Amino acid sequence: MTTPGAVIVDAVAYAQAIEDAVKASAAYYAGGTSVLDDDAYDRLVRAIAAWEDENPEQVLPDSPTGKVAGGAVEGDVPHTRAMLSLDNVFSAEEFTAWTASLTRRVGHDITAFGVEPKLDGLAIAARYTRGRLTRLITRGDGTAGEDVSHAIGTVEGLPAELTEPVTVEVRGEVLMTTAQFEHANEVRTAHGGAPFANPRNAAAGTLRARERAYTVPMTFFGYGLLPLDDTEPALAALLDESAHSDLMARAGGYGVNTTATTAVPGVTASTVEEVLARVAEIAGLRASLPFGIDGIVVKADLAADQRAAGSGSRAPRWATAYKLPAVEKITRLLAVEWNVGRTGIIAPRAVLEPVEIDGSTITYATLHNPADITRRDLRLGDHVMVHRAGDVIPRIEAPVAHLRTGDEQPIVFPEACPRCGSGIDTSEQRWRCVNGRDCHLVASLSYAAGRDQLDIEGLGHTRVVQLVEAGLVTDLAGLFALTRDQLLGLERMGETSTDNLLAALATARNQPLSRVLCALGVRGTGRSMSRRIARHFATMDLLRAADAEAIQQVEGIGTEKAPSIVAELAELAPLIDQLVAAGVNMTEPGATPPAPATPDGADGESGGDGTRAVAAAGPLAGMTVVVTGAMTGALEKLSRNQMNELIERAGGRSSSSVSKKTSLVVAGEGAGSKRTKAETLGLRLAAPDEFAALVADYVDAGPGGEPTV
Ligand code: IVH
Repeated sequence: MTTPGAVIVDAVAYAQAIEDAVKASAAYYAGGTSVLDDDAYDRLVRAIAAWEDENPEQVLPDSPTGKVAGGAVEGDVPHTRAMLSLDNVFSAEEFTAWTASLTRRVGHDITAFGVEPKLDGLAIAARYTRGRLTRLITRGDGTAGEDVSHAIGTVEGLPAELTEPVTVEVRGEVLMTTAQFEHANEVRTAHGGAPFANPRNAAAGTLRARERAYTVPMTFFGYGLLPLDDTEPALAALLDESAHSDLMARAGGYGVNTTATTAVPGVTASTVEEVLARVAEIAGLRASLPFGIDGIVVKADLAADQRAAGSGSRAPRWATAYKLPAVEKITRLLAVEWNVGRTGIIAPRAVLEPVEIDGSTITYATLHNPADITRRDLRLGDHVMVHRAGDVIPRIEAPVAHLRTGDEQPIVFPEACPRCGSGIDTSEQRWRCVNGRDCHLVASLSYAAGRDQLDIEGLGHTRVVQLVEAGLVTDLAGLFALTRDQLLGLERMGETSTDNLLAALATARNQPLSRVLCALGVRGTGRSMSRRIARHFATMDLLRAADAEAIQQVEGIGTEKAPSIVAELAELAPLIDQLVAAGVNMTEPGATPPAPATPDGADGESGGDGTRAVAAAGPLAGMTVVVTGAMTGALEKLSRNQMNELIERAGGRSSSSVSKKTSLVVAGEGAGSKRTKAETLGLRLAAPDEFAALVADYVDAGPGGEPTV
């Protein structure tokens, strides 16, 4: 096989490259898994094109550069108009050059561009007769496609009936959202099938499959609307004369799903600069989208410009795809590591053959739990599809089953805790050492001493190891029992360090309940959940007295989490008692305890959504605030957790994700996709200084959380 990206040196290498590209393309369009990921395929085709430029007389008929891509699956339903592919650009320079050539062709500057995401699925034509969905056809070779009408009813966004009784063809992309893909693989593996490698494959396989014992949903996004032979002439003429943006609005009005329903709706832009700005915006939002995109499609919006530009046999000249770096690569699963976390959870992690994805070298990926490994049928030595977007931890989507050689080995699950050798509690999906948080005492103590928990200065990882190894502490409460003499007896502990550490421990005793709770490491409750619980119950006593039902009153705690929190608190009871005895604060300053439940079950203050409708006071009352980027000025030293605490002290609700419900986004230096999303949604933005002024009275609260004024 050719090395993707390599320069093609002779006709033999050229022929091999064509063969590889054809195979990859056939697998791609037929729903199989290509041995080449998108990036490698693009590089291969560029190398082929470069060689063909130098050797035009030797171009082979099969070359992917000269024909409609996707010619692998021939169909028998003719398309009314060819379903074309798109040419690609890979940089702002290439895009600018493309617009210049378009200007030359059309004879004037283009002043209306349509800019929309390039959805990573499969092209499909949906025919509506007098408003009823009658036929679904794949692209096939571009001139004829396969009839996949059996899929009608499984594609969300393609209504069975339009809002008007029109005869039209809607073209667009069928894909699986990330959630649909996860669901499809669960259902498929439960039926004994091999998991699909990625959402694109899953959509391709599902669309073409007939007579499956199960159905799984997919999603459609329209990007084209055209007349059929028996379309009413006035409508046909109107469609042919309409700008792309008007066609999309019309399709939406008919009830067809388009990108208008997403966080990255198609927009029009009037200059190259505006297009490039929108490209950057969509690229910034990519990681947060619930479906895959592999680029941005830029089209001349006006019908007259499209006509003037015309089309080649493979692609229109009036549109191009601005490709984004691939977020998926195929690599090999070399090993699985089992790490014990601070709460005793034994979590598997995949060790990969290093692979570069969008500029970073990926060596590890998350694996959720043993059941997940079994369900995906992962084996050591497997080729796996790895996905990494934005700052999210890379994940394995699925093994690429057809690349198996037979030499793959089963993944061995541990029989004893890999850290302390004790037994493993396998009763839940996530396995746990029977010693729980005591198994990894160093990790749980270091976490508890951390900046967002008890914030014990001078108690870093090394010091914790020293204390544990010397046998001076066996649990969190032990920290508060440390004596001056014990500390002075340790290596590298002078008088000053000792006194500083004792002072830091004394301060830590006054931390609010939310931080104590967080330090305890109750499973399923991180920083923000600990704050919500503490604000709801106000005291540890009330929290400990709460049953699962009462705990469910806290926003974000459902029927699953509530009983596990109750069980965790019961398990932690002796430790909590010791902390109380050591003088550790167990109250949340500023929080009001919940009113006792009345006999009819209502607590008087509870909103219908299970949150207490206590009218919070403060400048941020009723607001949901998201912080992103680096803080400066008065807020410079605050960690993200401290910022969130500040928001909540000032009456607001902190959140880590931007949505329509966000009231304010505090955007500091280097803010990226969250800022972009806030701008796209037209949300209120504040710089750190503006925000500091807004909450000035609440900044600088020391342990205990009370404002200084
Ligand atoms: S326009 C004649 N718009 O990308 C114009 N295509 O690589 C051709 N695609 O075959 C299609 N999102 O399957 C268009 N917003 C979008 C698209 C899109 C995804 C797909 C489509 C096309 C392929 C070309």
